[in-house]
Amino acid sequence: KRVAVLMGGRSAEREVSLVSGEACARALEERGWPVTRIDVGTDLPEVLQRVRPEVVFNALHGRYGEDGRVQGLLDLMAIPYTHSGVLASALAMDKPMAKRVFASAGLRCPEGVETTLEALLAEPPIAPPFVVKPAAEGSSVGVVIVPDDDLRPLTDRNDIDPTCRLLVESYIPGRELTCAVLGDEPLAVTEIRPSQGFYDYRAKYTEGFASHLVPAPLAPAIYERVLEQALAAHRALGCRGVSRADFRFDPDRGEDGLYLLEVNTQPGMTPLSLVPEQAAFRGIGFADLVEQLLGWARC
Ligand code: DAL
Ligand code: MG
Repeated sequence: KRVAVLMGGRSAEREVSLVSGEACARALEERGWPVTRIDVGTDLPEVLQRVRPEVVFNALHGRYGEDGRVQGLLDLMAIPYTHSGVLASALAMDKPMAKRVFASAGLRCPEGVETTLEALLAEPPIAPPFVVKPAAEGSSVGVVIVPDDDLRPLTDRNDIDPTCRLLVESYIPGRELTCAVLGDEPLAVTEIRPSQGFYDYRAKYTEGFASHLVPAPLAPAIYERVLEQALAAHRALGCRGVSRADFRFDPDRGEDGLYLLEVNTQPGMTPLSLVPEQAAFRGIGFADLVEQLLGWARC
């Protein structure tokens, strides 16, 4: 079957997606699949008409590629594609909407309010410390931590559109955890320890800026709870193929200290990414992982 790997695109995570996409394309070629690499632009419909792939491997991240938009186009063109469909993608990408779904599924998330920079600066809706995030971004792009009443971390930045939708969430002290779900099974829990600050874009994609502990050194009851909640979050949104749920864990609050932050429906597939690492920990090599996802392609 002819496979098109969609990568790049027009989101803030374009560079990450080019790395994810190249890794996946190579793995498929090694397994003998005829692969076309497509750097996704506004001409995607014409390119797909010309290439006529039988199946699409979606290696896009962020806006247009992870939010249901490209999924809708592929549905319309009746081309099967990997990862989640329209609704799960759109819900997961929109953090305030995803939180509503998580709350209705009984999953604990940090207290959070949708706002804009303008409104937030006029009157912060929750007490510090808090985290401010664009409503629909990935890879920590645009994330700002405000430790106390001083709002300078926000006013110092000139790259936040004052009317753009933001999510402001209570900052959960403690540890950073993540868990992938492959098919219908949680893989493992990773603890991420950034070498400085938080797990931001640089720590995510620069070798040596964060260490990953798989399996995370947690009490067995907490470890199990992360696996359970990752699966519950995947199901609550209706994800398909693979997803990765990110958590914060405040050990001072015991079992009640686990908070779901978000679910990623197009998790990174770069050499430093967490899903391939968890798969490897479970004995699933990178090419097997990629082929498995391709096998689950649907539209
Ligand atoms: N948004 C990045 C690609 C991730 O979740 O891995
Ligand atoms: Mg994300």
